[in-house]
Amino acid sequence: MSGPWTPWNLGSLEVPNRLVRSATWEGLAGGDGRPRPELAEMLGRLSEGGAGMVVAGFAYVDPRGKALIGQTGACDDALLEDLAALAEAIRRGGARSCLQIGHCGAQLWRVLAEKGIKAEGPSAAAGVEEMTPERIRELIRAFGGAARRVKEAGFDAVQLHCAHGYLLGSFLSPRSNRRSDEWGGSLEGRARFPLEVYRAVRAAVGPDYPVWVKWNGRDYVEGGLEAEESLEAAALLVEEGLDGIEVSGGVLDSGDLGTTRGPEAEEGYFLEEARAFAERLPVPVGTVGGIRSLIAVERILGEGLAFVSLSRPLIREPDLPKAWRSGEKRSADCVSCNRCFVPALRGKGIRCMGPRRRRG
Ligand SMILES: Cc1cc2nc3c(=O)[nH]c(=O)nc-3n(C[C@H](O)[C@H](O)[C@H](O)COP(=O)(O)O)c2cc1C
Repeated sequence: MSGPWTPWNLGSLEVPNRLVRSATWEGLAGGDGRPRPELAEMLGRLSEGGAGMVVAGFAYVDPRGKALIGQTGACDDALLEDLAALAEAIRRGGARSCLQIGHCGAQLWRVLAEKGIKAEGPSAAAGVEEMTPERIRELIRAFGGAARRVKEAGFDAVQLHCAHGYLLGSFLSPRSNRRSDEWGGSLEGRARFPLEVYRAVRAAVGPDYPVWVKWNGRDYVEGGLEAEESLEAAALLVEEGLDGIEVSGGVLDSGDLGTTRGPEAEEGYFLEEARAFAERLPVPVGTVGGIRSLIAVERILGEGLAFVSLSRPLIREPDLPKAWRSGEKRSADCVSCNRCFVPALRGKGIRCMGPRRRRG
Protein backbone atom coordinates (compact mmCIF):
# COMPACT_ATOMS: atom_id res chain seq x y z
CA MET A 1 0.00 0.00 0.00
CA SER A 2 1.15 3.57 -0.73
CA GLY A 3 0.88 5.88 2.27
CA PRO A 4 -0.55 9.40 2.14
CA TRP A 5 2.85 11.05 2.00
CA THR A 6 4.28 9.14 -0.95
CA PRO A 7 4.39 10.68 -4.45
CA TRP A 8 2.20 9.57 -7.34
CA ASN A 9 2.07 10.41 -11.03
CA LEU A 10 -0.70 12.11 -12.95
CA GLY A 11 0.58 11.39 -16.45
CA SER A 12 3.93 13.12 -16.72
CA LEU A 13 3.44 15.07 -13.48
CA GLU A 14 4.81 13.90 -10.16
CA VAL A 15 2.53 14.94 -7.31
CA PRO A 16 4.35 14.99 -3.96
CA ASN A 17 1.63 13.41 -1.81
CA ARG A 18 -1.80 11.82 -2.12
CA LEU A 19 -4.02 14.51 -0.66
CA VAL A 20 -5.70 16.70 -3.27
CA ARG A 21 -7.72 19.85 -2.70
CA SER A 22 -10.73 19.10 -4.85
CA ALA A 23 -12.00 21.87 -7.15
CA THR A 24 -14.14 24.24 -5.11
CA TRP A 25 -15.91 27.34 -6.44
CA GLU A 26 -14.31 30.05 -4.33
CA GLY A 27 -16.54 32.95 -5.45
CA LEU A 28 -13.59 35.34 -5.58
CA ALA A 29 -13.59 36.64 -9.16
CA GLY A 30 -15.09 39.82 -10.57
CA GLY A 31 -18.14 39.89 -12.83
CA ASP A 32 -15.90 39.46 -15.87
CA GLY A 33 -14.34 36.26 -14.46
CA ARG A 34 -11.11 37.96 -13.48
CA PRO A 35 -9.77 36.47 -10.22
CA ARG A 36 -9.45 38.93 -7.37
CA PRO A 37 -6.15 39.00 -5.43
CA GLU A 38 -7.90 37.24 -2.50
CA LEU A 39 -8.24 34.14 -4.67
CA ALA A 40 -4.48 33.86 -5.19
CA GLU A 41 -4.06 34.31 -1.42
CA MET A 42 -6.58 31.56 -0.66
CA LEU A 43 -4.98 29.14 -3.13
CA GLY A 44 -1.50 29.99 -1.83
CA ARG A 45 -2.63 29.17 1.73
CA LEU A 46 -4.09 25.87 0.60
CA SER A 47 -0.81 25.03 -1.07
CA GLU A 48 1.22 25.93 2.03
CA GLY A 49 -1.22 23.83 4.03
CA GLY A 50 0.30 20.67 2.64
CA ALA A 51 -2.01 19.27 -0.06
CA GLY A 52 -0.01 17.61 -2.84
CA MET A 53 -2.16 19.25 -5.49
CA VAL A 54 -4.51 22.22 -5.38
CA VAL A 55 -7.28 22.25 -7.98
CA ALA A 56 -8.75 25.74 -8.31
CA GLY A 57 -12.55 25.91 -8.59
CA PHE A 58 -14.34 25.46 -11.87
CA ALA A 59 -13.62 28.15 -14.45
CA TYR A 60 -16.14 28.69 -17.23
CA VAL A 61 -15.06 28.08 -20.82
CA ASP A 62 -17.80 30.27 -22.32
CA PRO A 63 -19.82 33.13 -20.83
CA ARG A 64 -23.00 31.02 -20.98
CA GLY A 65 -21.23 28.35 -18.98
CA LYS A 66 -20.97 30.49 -15.87
CA ALA A 67 -22.91 28.91 -13.01
CA LEU A 68 -22.34 31.18 -10.06
CA ILE A 69 -21.37 34.68 -9.07
CA GLY A 70 -17.70 35.27 -8.40
CA GLN A 71 -16.75 32.38 -10.64
CA THR A 72 -13.39 32.46 -12.42
CA GLY A 73 -13.36 32.65 -16.21
CA ALA A 74 -11.10 30.79 -18.62
CA CYS A 75 -12.85 31.95 -21.78
CA ASP A 76 -10.67 34.88 -22.82
CA ASP A 77 -6.96 35.55 -23.35
CA ALA A 78 -7.45 38.83 -21.48
CA LEU A 79 -7.65 36.73 -18.29
CA LEU A 80 -4.31 35.00 -18.84
CA GLU A 81 -2.19 37.22 -16.60
CA ASP A 82 -4.58 36.86 -13.67
CA LEU A 83 -4.85 33.12 -14.14
CA ALA A 84 -1.04 32.98 -14.14
CA ALA A 85 -1.05 34.68 -10.72
CA LEU A 86 -3.17 31.80 -9.37
CA ALA A 87 -0.81 29.15 -10.72
CA GLU A 88 2.14 31.08 -9.30
CA ALA A 89 0.54 31.34 -5.84
CA ILE A 90 -0.04 27.58 -5.73
CA ARG A 91 3.47 26.82 -6.95
CA ARG A 92 5.07 29.06 -4.29
CA GLY A 93 3.35 27.04 -1.57
CA GLY A 94 4.85 23.77 -2.83
CA ALA A 95 1.80 21.99 -4.24
CA ARG A 96 1.16 21.07 -7.86
CA SER A 97 -1.35 23.39 -9.50
CA CYS A 98 -4.43 22.60 -11.52
CA LEU A 99 -7.42 24.54 -12.81
CA GLN A 100 -10.75 22.84 -13.35
CA ILE A 101 -12.66 24.00 -16.43
CA GLY A 102 -16.31 23.48 -17.23
CA HIS A 103 -19.65 24.72 -18.38
CA CYS A 104 -22.72 24.75 -16.13
CA GLY A 105 -25.17 23.55 -18.78
CA ALA A 106 -28.72 23.56 -17.43
CA GLN A 107 -27.60 24.14 -13.84
CA LEU A 108 -27.44 27.88 -14.25
CA TRP A 109 -27.79 29.79 -11.05
CA ARG A 110 -31.15 31.57 -10.77
CA VAL A 111 -29.76 35.10 -10.47
CA LEU A 112 -27.92 34.77 -13.77
CA ALA A 113 -31.08 33.45 -15.38
CA GLU A 114 -32.88 36.51 -14.09
CA LYS A 115 -30.31 38.68 -15.84
CA GLY A 116 -31.45 37.18 -19.12
CA ILE A 117 -28.77 34.56 -19.67
CA LYS A 118 -30.60 31.47 -20.86
CA ALA A 119 -29.34 28.06 -19.83
CA GLU A 120 -28.34 25.58 -22.53
CA GLY A 121 -28.12 21.81 -22.41
CA PRO A 122 -28.33 18.62 -24.45
CA SER A 123 -32.15 18.69 -24.48
CA ALA A 124 -34.77 21.36 -23.95
CA ALA A 125 -36.34 21.70 -20.51
CA ALA A 126 -38.01 24.49 -18.57
CA GLY A 127 -35.71 27.50 -19.02
CA VAL A 128 -33.16 25.41 -20.92
CA GLU A 129 -32.43 25.69 -24.64
CA GLU A 130 -31.38 22.62 -26.61
CA MET A 131 -27.91 23.02 -28.08
CA THR A 132 -27.66 22.82 -31.86
CA PRO A 133 -24.90 20.70 -33.44
CA GLU A 134 -23.17 23.99 -34.38
CA ARG A 135 -23.27 25.14 -30.77
CA ILE A 136 -21.90 21.77 -29.67
CA ARG A 137 -18.94 22.21 -32.04
CA GLU A 138 -18.44 25.78 -30.81
CA LEU A 139 -18.25 24.63 -27.21
CA ILE A 140 -15.85 21.81 -28.05
CA ARG A 141 -13.56 24.51 -29.45
CA ALA A 142 -14.16 26.65 -26.36
CA PHE A 143 -12.99 23.83 -24.09
CA GLY A 144 -9.85 23.48 -26.23
CA GLY A 145 -9.19 27.22 -25.99
CA ALA A 146 -9.68 27.25 -22.22
CA ALA A 147 -7.32 24.29 -21.77
CA ARG A 148 -4.67 26.07 -23.82
CA ARG A 149 -5.02 29.08 -21.48
CA VAL A 150 -4.67 26.88 -18.41
CA LYS A 151 -1.39 25.55 -19.77
CA GLU A 152 -0.18 28.97 -20.91
CA ALA A 153 -0.98 30.42 -17.48
CA GLY A 154 1.50 27.95 -16.00
CA PHE A 155 -0.78 25.45 -14.26
CA ASP A 156 0.70 21.95 -14.00
CA ALA A 157 -2.52 20.26 -15.13
CA VAL A 158 -6.06 20.83 -16.34
CA GLN A 159 -9.15 19.05 -15.05
CA LEU A 160 -12.44 18.76 -16.97
CA HIS A 161 -15.55 19.06 -14.84
CA CYS A 162 -17.61 16.11 -16.08
CA ALA A 163 -19.43 15.63 -12.78
CA HIS A 164 -22.41 16.91 -10.78
CA GLY A 165 -24.89 17.38 -13.63
CA TYR A 166 -23.07 20.23 -15.34
CA LEU A 167 -22.85 20.30 -19.14
CA LEU A 168 -20.34 17.50 -19.80
CA GLY A 169 -22.00 15.17 -17.32
CA SER A 170 -25.48 16.07 -18.51
CA PHE A 171 -24.66 14.73 -21.98
CA LEU A 172 -23.79 11.36 -20.40
CA SER A 173 -27.06 11.09 -18.50
CA PRO A 174 -30.09 9.55 -20.26
CA ARG A 175 -32.25 11.69 -17.98
CA SER A 176 -30.94 15.03 -19.27
CA ASN A 177 -29.79 13.91 -22.74
CA ARG A 178 -32.82 12.84 -24.74
CA ARG A 179 -31.35 13.67 -28.15
CA SER A 180 -31.90 11.38 -31.11
CA ASP A 181 -28.98 12.67 -33.21
CA GLU A 182 -25.34 11.51 -33.00
CA TRP A 183 -24.90 13.39 -29.68
CA GLY A 184 -27.42 11.27 -27.79
CA GLY A 185 -29.20 7.92 -27.66
CA SER A 186 -26.81 5.04 -27.02
CA LEU A 187 -24.01 5.35 -24.49
CA GLU A 188 -21.64 5.93 -27.41
CA GLY A 189 -23.79 8.86 -28.53
CA ARG A 190 -24.12 10.33 -25.05
CA ALA A 191 -20.37 10.00 -24.49
CA ARG A 192 -19.54 11.69 -27.79
CA PHE A 193 -19.53 15.26 -26.45
CA PRO A 194 -17.21 14.58 -23.46
CA LEU A 195 -15.00 12.48 -25.74
CA GLU A 196 -14.79 15.18 -28.42
CA VAL A 197 -14.10 17.77 -25.71
CA TYR A 198 -11.30 15.58 -24.37
CA ARG A 199 -9.86 15.27 -27.89
CA ALA A 200 -9.95 19.04 -28.42
CA VAL A 201 -8.32 19.62 -25.05
CA ARG A 202 -5.63 17.04 -25.74
CA ALA A 203 -4.95 18.61 -29.15
CA ALA A 204 -4.65 22.03 -27.51
CA VAL A 205 -2.23 21.04 -24.74
CA GLY A 206 -0.21 18.30 -26.43
CA PRO A 207 0.43 14.66 -25.54
CA ASP A 208 2.49 15.18 -22.37
CA TYR A 209 0.39 17.69 -20.44
CA PRO A 210 -1.71 16.14 -17.66
CA VAL A 211 -5.43 16.12 -18.45
CA TRP A 212 -7.84 14.47 -16.02
CA VAL A 213 -11.51 14.54 -15.13
CA LYS A 214 -13.83 14.84 -12.18
CA TRP A 215 -16.49 12.27 -13.00
CA ASN A 216 -19.75 11.00 -11.56
CA GLY A 217 -19.50 7.35 -10.60
CA ARG A 218 -23.31 7.58 -10.37
CA ASP A 219 -25.79 10.44 -10.59
CA TYR A 220 -27.91 9.18 -7.68
CA VAL A 221 -31.10 10.30 -9.33
CA GLU A 222 -33.92 8.33 -10.99
CA GLY A 223 -33.08 7.76 -14.67
CA GLY A 224 -29.62 9.32 -14.39
CA LEU A 225 -26.18 7.90 -15.18
CA GLU A 226 -25.59 4.56 -13.44
CA ALA A 227 -22.33 2.95 -12.34
CA GLU A 228 -21.71 0.55 -15.21
CA GLU A 229 -22.33 3.08 -18.00
CA SER A 230 -20.29 5.67 -16.15
CA LEU A 231 -17.32 3.33 -16.09
CA GLU A 232 -17.74 2.36 -19.76
CA ALA A 233 -17.84 6.01 -20.83
CA ALA A 234 -14.77 6.89 -18.77
CA ALA A 235 -12.93 3.97 -20.36
CA LEU A 236 -13.42 5.61 -23.78
CA LEU A 237 -11.46 8.68 -22.63
CA VAL A 238 -8.82 6.55 -20.92
CA GLU A 239 -8.24 4.66 -24.18
CA GLU A 240 -7.39 7.99 -25.79
CA GLY A 241 -4.87 9.05 -23.17
CA LEU A 242 -6.78 10.57 -20.23
CA ASP A 243 -4.35 10.76 -17.29
CA GLY A 244 -6.56 10.27 -14.23
CA ILE A 245 -10.05 10.26 -12.72
CA GLU A 246 -11.44 11.81 -9.55
CA VAL A 247 -14.66 9.96 -8.81
CA SER A 248 -17.50 11.99 -7.35
CA GLY A 249 -21.27 11.73 -7.76
CA GLY A 250 -24.66 13.38 -7.51
CA VAL A 251 -26.41 16.10 -9.48
CA LEU A 252 -28.19 19.21 -8.27
CA ASP A 253 -31.41 17.35 -7.43
CA SER A 254 -29.98 14.20 -5.86
CA GLY A 255 -31.18 15.36 -2.44
CA ASP A 256 -29.51 13.60 0.49
CA LEU A 257 -27.45 11.45 -1.89
CA GLY A 258 -25.86 14.44 -3.62
CA THR A 259 -22.33 15.75 -4.04
CA THR A 260 -22.02 17.57 -0.72
CA ARG A 261 -23.70 15.21 1.74
CA GLY A 262 -24.39 16.26 5.30
CA PRO A 263 -22.96 15.30 8.69
CA GLU A 264 -24.56 11.84 8.81
CA ALA A 265 -22.89 10.62 5.57
CA GLU A 266 -20.22 7.94 5.80
CA GLU A 267 -16.61 8.89 5.05
CA GLY A 268 -15.83 8.37 1.35
CA TYR A 269 -19.43 8.15 0.19
CA PHE A 270 -18.47 7.58 -3.46
CA LEU A 271 -15.81 4.99 -2.61
CA GLU A 272 -17.75 2.01 -3.91
CA GLU A 273 -17.96 3.51 -7.42
CA ALA A 274 -14.34 4.71 -7.28
CA ARG A 275 -13.10 1.27 -6.29
CA ALA A 276 -14.66 -0.24 -9.42
CA PHE A 277 -12.92 2.43 -11.54
CA ALA A 278 -9.57 1.71 -9.86
CA GLU A 279 -9.96 -2.03 -10.42
CA ARG A 280 -10.84 -1.72 -14.09
CA LEU A 281 -8.98 1.31 -15.47
CA PRO A 282 -5.20 1.64 -15.91
CA VAL A 283 -4.92 5.25 -14.68
CA PRO A 284 -4.75 6.80 -11.21
CA VAL A 285 -8.21 6.95 -9.64
CA GLY A 286 -9.14 8.87 -6.52
CA THR A 287 -12.30 9.82 -4.74
CA VAL A 288 -13.87 12.74 -2.93
CA GLY A 289 -16.83 13.08 -0.59
CA GLY A 290 -17.02 13.27 3.17
CA ILE A 291 -13.49 12.13 3.96
CA ARG A 292 -12.61 13.61 7.34
CA SER A 293 -9.91 11.48 8.98
CA LEU A 294 -6.42 10.26 8.22
CA ILE A 295 -7.58 6.75 9.08
CA ALA A 296 -10.15 6.95 6.27
CA VAL A 297 -7.50 8.34 3.89
CA GLU A 298 -5.21 5.40 4.67
CA ARG A 299 -8.03 2.90 4.33
CA ILE A 300 -9.03 4.30 0.93
CA LEU A 301 -5.46 4.28 -0.35
CA GLY A 302 -5.20 0.72 0.98
CA GLU A 303 -8.07 -0.25 -1.29
CA GLY A 304 -6.03 0.62 -4.37
CA LEU A 305 -6.95 4.25 -4.94
CA ALA A 306 -4.13 6.58 -5.96
CA PHE A 307 -5.25 9.73 -4.14
CA VAL A 308 -7.91 11.15 -1.86
CA SER A 309 -9.53 14.57 -2.33
CA LEU A 310 -10.98 17.00 0.18
CA SER A 311 -12.99 20.17 -0.33
CA ARG A 312 -14.99 21.47 2.66
CA PRO A 313 -12.49 20.44 5.38
CA LEU A 314 -9.84 22.61 3.72
CA ILE A 315 -12.14 25.64 3.66
CA ARG A 316 -12.13 25.50 7.43
CA GLU A 317 -8.56 24.24 7.86
CA PRO A 318 -6.23 24.75 4.91
CA ASP A 319 -3.41 23.40 7.08
CA LEU A 320 -5.10 20.06 7.79
CA PRO A 321 -2.74 17.99 5.57
CA LYS A 322 0.24 19.52 7.34
CA ALA A 323 -1.30 18.81 10.76
CA TRP A 324 -1.92 15.17 9.85
CA ARG A 325 1.57 14.85 8.46
CA SER A 326 3.05 16.17 11.69
CA GLY A 327 1.32 13.38 13.59
CA GLU A 328 -1.99 14.90 14.70
CA LYS A 329 -4.53 12.10 14.89
CA ARG A 330 -7.72 14.15 15.08
CA SER A 331 -10.41 14.32 12.41
CA ALA A 332 -11.16 17.43 10.41
CA ASP A 333 -13.17 20.08 12.24
CA CYS A 334 -15.56 20.32 9.27
CA VAL A 335 -19.01 18.96 10.10
CA SER A 336 -20.32 19.14 6.49
CA CYS A 337 -22.91 21.77 7.37
CA ASN A 338 -22.55 23.35 3.89
CA ARG A 339 -22.75 26.86 5.29
CA CYS A 340 -19.45 27.65 3.47
CA PHE A 341 -21.63 28.45 0.43
CA VAL A 342 -23.43 31.26 2.23
CA PRO A 343 -20.91 34.14 2.12
CA ALA A 344 -19.92 33.22 -1.45
CA LEU A 345 -23.51 33.47 -2.62
CA ARG A 346 -23.46 36.98 -1.22
CA GLY A 347 -20.36 37.81 -3.27
CA LYS A 348 -17.87 37.54 -0.40
CA GLY A 349 -16.17 34.26 -1.22
CA ILE A 350 -16.35 30.89 0.53
CA ARG A 351 -15.66 30.78 4.25
CA CYS A 352 -16.38 28.33 7.04
CA MET A 353 -19.39 29.57 9.00
CA GLY A 354 -19.70 26.36 11.04
CA PRO A 355 -19.34 25.66 14.73
CA ARG A 356 -16.34 26.92 16.65
CA ARG A 357 -13.24 24.78 16.88
CA ARG A 358 -13.52 22.00 19.44
CA ARG A 359 -11.37 22.24 22.56
CA GLY A 360 -9.09 19.46 23.76
C1 LIG B 1 -18.51 25.80 -1.74
C2 LIG B 1 -18.31 24.62 -2.64
C3 LIG B 1 -17.97 24.81 -3.97
C4 LIG B 1 -17.73 23.71 -4.82
N1 LIG B 1 -17.31 23.93 -6.10
C5 LIG B 1 -16.94 22.87 -6.88
C6 LIG B 1 -16.34 23.08 -8.15
O1 LIG B 1 -16.08 24.19 -8.58
N2 LIG B 1 -16.05 21.98 -8.88
C7 LIG B 1 -16.26 20.70 -8.41
O2 LIG B 1 -15.96 19.74 -9.11
N3 LIG B 1 -16.80 20.48 -7.21
C8 LIG B 1 -17.13 21.53 -6.42
N4 LIG B 1 -17.61 21.31 -5.16
C9 LIG B 1 -17.71 19.93 -4.66
C10 LIG B 1 -16.45 19.56 -3.89
O3 LIG B 1 -15.28 19.64 -4.66
C11 LIG B 1 -16.54 18.12 -3.34
O4 LIG B 1 -16.73 17.24 -4.41
C12 LIG B 1 -17.68 17.96 -2.32
O5 LIG B 1 -17.74 19.09 -1.47
C13 LIG B 1 -17.50 16.72 -1.45
O6 LIG B 1 -16.23 16.70 -0.82
P1 LIG B 1 -16.00 17.15 0.71
O7 LIG B 1 -16.92 16.31 1.54
O8 LIG B 1 -14.56 16.91 0.96
O9 LIG B 1 -16.37 18.58 0.80
C14 LIG B 1 -17.87 22.39 -4.31
C15 LIG B 1 -18.23 22.21 -2.97
C16 LIG B 1 -18.44 23.30 -2.13
C17 LIG B 1 -18.79 23.04 -0.67
